Amino acid sequence: MKNRAIQKIGVLTSGGDSPGMNAAIRAVVRACAYQEIKCIGVYRGYQGLIEGDFIELGPRSVRNIINKGGTFLKSARSDAFRTKEGMQEAIVQIRNVGMDALVVIGGDGSFKGATALALEYDFPVIGIPGTIDNDIEGTDFTIGYDTALNTVVEAIDKIRDTASSHNRLFLIEVMGRDAGDIALNAGVGAGAEEILIPEEDLGRERLLEKLAASKKSGKTSSIVVVAEGDQIGKNIFGLADYINETLPEYDVRVTVLGHIQRGGSPSCYDRVLASRLGVAAVDALLEGKTRSMVAIRSNTVITVPFKEVEKRDRKVDFELIRVSEIVSI
Ligand code: F6P
Repeated sequence: MKNRAIQKIGVLTSGGDSPGMNAAIRAVVRACAYQEIKCIGVYRGYQGLIEGDFIELGPRSVRNIINKGGTFLKSARSDAFRTKEGMQEAIVQIRNVGMDALVVIGGDGSFKGATALALEYDFPVIGIPGTIDNDIEGTDFTIGYDTALNTVVEAIDKIRDTASSHNRLFLIEVMGRDAGDIALNAGVGAGAEEILIPEEDLGRERLLEKLAASKKSGKTSSIVVVAEGDQIGKNIFGLADYINETLPEYDVRVTVLGHIQRGGSPSCYDRVLASRLGVAAVDALLEGKTRSMVAIRSNTVITVPFKEVEKRDRKVDFELIRVSEIVSI
């Protein structure tokens, strides 16, 4: 049953951008057109909502963007929206433009803003998980994660060429403020000797033991992937100095991959995921759902209440940690 009270849906991107966000916006816009309802793009996330920085979007406004990284609506982290006054200004703009519901593409921090808006003003909201970190409870994958993994693996492959030419040890820092998903999966995919993730603090000594054993076993070069949120990752240059002093047989270099992980053309997987979730978000609103995230689990599109998403009790993939230990022997 369609909720005919919804005639105009807003869409915004918030938090760190991720490849595939444009594809998700495109899907939301075209799903609205398919359902013969209007779509309003909000520039610069919640900040644009406060300022009424809107644009009416039709199916042709989103042509040629499925392949583009970033988000053409731009993204921002808005402090003003966290205040009562900021949210009040936003609802005035929402009413002025006649927006009946909102789709928020971003991480779970962005969903908190949506929840607050929904509760305070009884305004329908649906979230789409978009972040390279894959750190959102309730979905197997977030939009942008697959592309970021491919970017990281490609970069590490290149580093491996020079590492092996010079018999060097490379410490490679990857993104993941609170989650080791990028480090763990890209590390296994790129054949890292060791992977350091925030969920599992093994300490420096164990790393050193592993490196000493690797050397003894005949390895001439090594790759260690370090998630930025790992205890050790916080000071990767300090760790490099420590290894240099303690294991002088190693010639250590550091590469911080940084924001290249957030850019680039989205992978096919991310484009398809974004398209599925964008359509699902509009469907969910028209079915009367709110305060929920559309998600993918076991390759099935579902909706998960924000309450579940907030629990944040994702578990680290111990099977993959074991695999990484075995295949790096
Ligand atoms: O989007 C998530 C993330 O990429 C984290 O992995 C990283 O710590 C953070 O964003 C960087 O944020 P900023 O671009 O604001 O420096």
